[in-house]
Amino acid sequence: MSDYKKAKSVEQLIPIEERYRHIRPRPQLPNFAAHIDGVDLTRPFSDAVRAELYQALLDFEVLFFAPQELTPEQHLELAAVFGPVAQGAYFPRKDSHPQIEVLATDADHPASVDHWHSDLSWLENPPAGTVIQLTEVPEVGGDTAWASMSKAFAALSPGLRDYLRGLDATHTWETSQWRNYLANLGEEVLINSIRQFKPVVHPVVLKHPESGKELLFVNETFTRQINGVSALESREILRLLTSWVKQPEFIYTHKWQANGIAVWDNRSTQHYALADYWPQRRLNHRVTFNARGRAGEIDNTLAAVGGLGVTSKVAYGY
Ligand SMILES: [Fe+2]
Repeated sequence: MSDYKKAKSVEQLIPIEERYRHIRPRPQLPNFAAHIDGVDLTRPFSDAVRAELYQALLDFEVLFFAPQELTPEQHLELAAVFGPVAQGAYFPRKDSHPQIEVLATDADHPASVDHWHSDLSWLENPPAGTVIQLTEVPEVGGDTAWASMSKAFAALSPGLRDYLRGLDATHTWETSQWRNYLANLGEEVLINSIRQFKPVVHPVVLKHPESGKELLFVNETFTRQINGVSALESREILRLLTSWVKQPEFIYTHKWQANGIAVWDNRSTQHYALADYWPQRRLNHRVTFNARGRAGEIDNTLAAVGGLGVTSKVAYGY
């Protein structure tokens, strides 16, 4: 049998019984997207539970918890298990707890994050991950899909993996709908953004700083080009890779229940929020965290460019 026919299977399943004593991860795909049983998020975590939750995020890349009522403090406490809580990224913040961002979609604000991306990959140090809780969900629709970048990379042929390991790529918000959003806030905001958030370079194959896994780190929303090759080669390789990561073997699509919770690793996954529920309402509370031992680069992208509190006529769209 050709090797490529086996390539989408993982070489070895993670030994859950052996590795986990205090929580019970139930992966939905081989080594990916685990539902976590046995944790009450409303009570303080023991050190042992904390360590296993952290390990589970490295192992399974996206975690899900059953619906439960969380206070803002408990939401922040859960995020702090995985890394230092960031000051938010780009969405409006909750008045009482500015580290919590609130993303509301309804009849007047249609969903607009229906494209594959890794959050803020256009920063030198993108966030390590996010904990979201959906306090209101549509009757049907509004799922979120995550794709595993470790599985996607491992399934490529050995020759292509070697080739990609030697490459860097340029990421910028300017290729995304974020540009229209900022432009709509005013010329000054757009110019500030161009000055402040210049394109950055990341390796095409990122070695995860905490798990050591090799990850494909390009996404169709923010990756502008592969550096050091012709425009044609860059375009066609990016086209191959961004199609490659969308294969169903690498993707788990989560159906939400009200108050359900998810945590994702922003390095080892990309996500896509399905936009199929307008005009129904969906309310998402987000807390972002940075990598352990690494401070975040910025406070809030909109605040940094003078766009916080200005209302745009166009949706976020990125
Ligand atoms: Fe996102």
